[in-house]
Amino acid sequence: MRSVFLLFMYVVNSTILSSNTTNYYPCRYNALCRCKTTEGFLHIDCSFRKISRIPHFPRNTRTLNLSNNYITYIEKNTFHGLKNLTLLDLTANKVGQVKIEPHAFNGLGHLRMLLLANNSLSYNDLPEELFTPLVSLVILNLQFNTLPGNIAIGRIVSPLLNLESLEFDISNQSGHLFDRQISSLHKLRKLVSGYCSILMLDKFSFAYLQQLEHLDLSSCSISKFRRCAFCTLRRLEFLSLNFHLRGKFGGIGNVLKDMKSTSIKSLKIRHLLCVVTKFPGDVFVHLYNTSIQFIEITDSLRVGGGESTFYKLPPSLQHLDLSNDTLINFSLQMPFLTSLNVRYNSLGVFLADHTYMNSPQTDLKIIDLSWNSIYHLVFSIFHGHSKLKRIDLSHNNLVDVTFDMSHLINLRLLNLSHNSLSHFNDTTIDTITNMFKNTELKIDLTKNALDCGCHTVNFLRWMLEYTDRFERIENYTCKFDTKDYVLFSDFKQTVQHIDKECSKYTLIIALVSAGIIAAIFVLCCGLIYRYRWTLRYMYYMTRSKYYRYKPVDVDEIYTYNAFVSYSDNERDFIINECIPNLEEAFNMRLCLHQRDFLPGQDITVNMTNAIHDSKRTVCVITKAFLESYFCMFEFNMARMEGIYSRDGQNVLLLVFYDRIQPKELPLMMLELVQQQSYIEYPHDSAGNVLFWEKMKEVLI
Ligand SMILES: *[C@@H]1O[C@H](CO)[C@@H](O)[C@H](O)[C@H]1NC(C)=O
Ligand SMILES: *[C@@H]1O[C@H](CO)[C@@H](O)[C@H](O)[C@H]1NC(C)=O
Ligand SMILES: *[C@@H]1O[C@H](CO)[C@@H](O)[C@H](O)[C@H]1NC(C)=O
Ligand SMILES: *[C@@H]1O[C@H](CO)[C@@H](O)[C@H](O)[C@H]1NC(C)=O
Ligand SMILES: *[C@@H]1O[C@H](CO)[C@@H](O)[C@H](O)[C@H]1NC(C)=O
Ligand SMILES: *[C@@H]1O[C@H](CO)[C@@H](O)[C@H](O)[C@H]1NC(C)=O
Ligand SMILES: *[C@@H]1O[C@H](CO)[C@@H](O)[C@H](O)[C@H]1NC(C)=O
Ligand SMILES: *[C@@H]1O[C@H](CO)[C@@H](O)[C@H](O)[C@H]1NC(C)=O
Ligand SMILES: *[C@@H]1O[C@H](CO)[C@@H](O)[C@H](O)[C@H]1NC(C)=O
Ligand SMILES: *[C@@H]1O[C@H](CO)[C@@H](O)[C@H](O)[C@H]1NC(C)=O
Repeated sequence: MRSVFLLFMYVVNSTILSSNTTNYYPCRYNALCRCKTTEGFLHIDCSFRKISRIPHFPRNTRTLNLSNNYITYIEKNTFHGLKNLTLLDLTANKVGQVKIEPHAFNGLGHLRMLLLANNSLSYNDLPEELFTPLVSLVILNLQFNTLPGNIAIGRIVSPLLNLESLEFDISNQSGHLFDRQISSLHKLRKLVSGYCSILMLDKFSFAYLQQLEHLDLSSCSISKFRRCAFCTLRRLEFLSLNFHLRGKFGGIGNVLKDMKSTSIKSLKIRHLLCVVTKFPGDVFVHLYNTSIQFIEITDSLRVGGGESTFYKLPPSLQHLDLSNDTLINFSLQMPFLTSLNVRYNSLGVFLADHTYMNSPQTDLKIIDLSWNSIYHLVFSIFHGHSKLKRIDLSHNNLVDVTFDMSHLINLRLLNLSHNSLSHFNDTTIDTITNMFKNTELKIDLTKNALDCGCHTVNFLRWMLEYTDRFERIENYTCKFDTKDYVLFSDFKQTVQHIDKECSKYTLIIALVSAGIIAAIFVLCCGLIYRYRWTLRYMYYMTRSKYYRYKPVDVDEIYTYNAFVSYSDNERDFIINECIPNLEEAFNMRLCLHQRDFLPGQDITVNMTNAIHDSKRTVCVITKAFLESYFCMFEFNMARMEGIYSRDGQNVLLLVFYDRIQPKELPLMMLELVQQQSYIEYPHDSAGNVLFWEKMKEVLI
């Protein structure tokens, strides 16, 4: 009476306490366990409590977890009052060491799930009527119990007419895996093996289980597959097999041929090692006309090789997992595939200059190429992958992004973690920036040898600008030239620091370059100044249509005897003295700028032509001459003419009309004066006659 009351109080209390909370709290009636209430029902978790005797539980218990305890004994009617219990978990106890009494599960008419795995139970010793009360049971787990040599399980499970899923141990049987009794389980859809050793599967093995949809024999080591072991399973959608490491075995072909008569959607095969010596392409051939959607062939070694590995995938296939297969190369036609997993293979060398796809385009959304020793990917590797969302290239040896991604408008994740990337170059940065603008792309660069140097500062600044596009950026590290590592957790500061260091460096470079440029400029100016007249002379001579080389020896015929260069102040002297005394008296031809220069012609061209066409150039030196730009131009041009066109002959004749102090003369003129090629105008009538005579001698 007292306990019933306490129980009642507990129910009320716990309901009040826990209304609105979904978390577990210590149960009132038994502090060892934790409780949770929803909609007036109790969920009790007594796992890992070292319980050895099953306590009493409230009537409204719906789920009960007694796993991982020391329970050795289940008496009859233990759960009698728990009419509403739907789940009972007795996994990993020591039940098998003693016994379950025949009527242990009486009263559990609503139980839907019973978990009895890992209890060292012997199926042989279980009471025949044990499961009879469990009329609602849907899921039964009896895995990892029985010792080798157990008989068929049909005897104890046949009363469970509503059973849909059975997980159990199969030991060392051949032929009839199940006796006829199991055929009463009309609803059984799912079979999963625990401990399992099967010598052989043949057409009788599943003869009584024709409604099976899900068959997981991945824990079995099956020695032989006969033809048609699965032929009767017309509803079979999922099959998982494990070939373990047994040699001398060829049953895979039989399995694949059987698949035509099933509804297979998902096929998992592990450890084909030693069984096939080439790429398991038969799988695709045999499954071509089935409704297969998912194929997983993993942990299988492709021994040998050398043959072509070109296969056309079944059109219905969407997911292909070939991970951990030691693949060296492969090429598939996969227009309809949506996910491809080839992690843990050796495709690095092959993918450096080949693609794996043999069709122009694919529906692929996810590709996993991690752990493949990839150091370089061919530029076009993802061409035709317009729907691609995720690329996993983690755990490879990439040092650069060499593949084209610009067309991957649906890309969400590019996983480049655990590679050897130091930075992206400007081309790659541009491409990815464009993608950032148009897609939701995120990039994972964790565990790369990123560089924190002046040559990567562009890259770092760019990362700073797009920090939210880099997954786990706070855990990136980058390395300075000094071999120090910094974490990106205060990335902004790091980049600012590098920026500052590098701008110093850039400043030094800029200053040094500016210095060098200035030096070169000064040198050039010096040279140009030093050779200014030579350059000018060359320039005008090149422009002049009269320019030609005049050999010295030949008796040259000049148009003029002399070109007279004078400043306008001396015009009277020219008209009144020069023309009468030279032209008229001696019949000479003089070239005078006022009279003989061609109008319309550039004055400098006129000057150079006059110098070139005259035997001598007479400079009438006065103070005005020295100050006149054009006079000095003519003087210098005539000097150059002497040097460059007349083989060093002196063309110039200086006539000093004014008295001029030597210090007033330009250096060049002084040199000529010292060479005696000058004459002074006497300014008295006797001297003048002599002067004109001398002139005649020189000019004719
Ligand atoms: C439990 O099951 C019994 C009998 O089926 C029912 O009368 C009762 O309302 C259920 N609920 C609770 C909270 O006990
Ligand atoms: C029972 O508890 C164990 C340990 O806490 C847990 O792993 C297991 O999933 C639980 N069982 C169920 C059916 O929830
Ligand atoms: C049950 O036994 C299997 C095989 O020994 C083991 O892998 C698994 O972890 C065990 N499960 C529990 C819950 O102890
Ligand atoms: C299976 O049976 C064979 C012969 O019947 C026996 O040699 C082998 O030990 C048995 N294996 C197991 C795991 O019971
Ligand atoms: C698939 O079916 C088509 C027509 O039903 C047939 O022509 C083709 O040979 C079959 N392919 C395979 C690999 O069985
Ligand atoms: C790959 O397969 C080998 C051989 O079957 C196995 O030993 C290894 O653990 C597997 N590796 C991974 C990562 O699955
Ligand atoms: C694929 O590998 C085989 C053997 O390793 C080789 O003979 C074949 O040429 C390779 N194919 C390509 C396209 O590299
Ligand atoms: C960046 O790298 C790619 C691939 O290595 C190369 O094609 C491109 O010319 C590089 N761009 C620059 C600016 O160095
Ligand atoms: C990238 O790959 C690594 C290694 O496989 C993984 O740990 C990480 O979670 C992946 N990153 C993202 C964003 O999924
Ligand atoms: C970053 O690294 C720390 C320490 O290695 C780790 O605890 C944390 O989970 C990492 N964060 C992310 C987002 O990976």
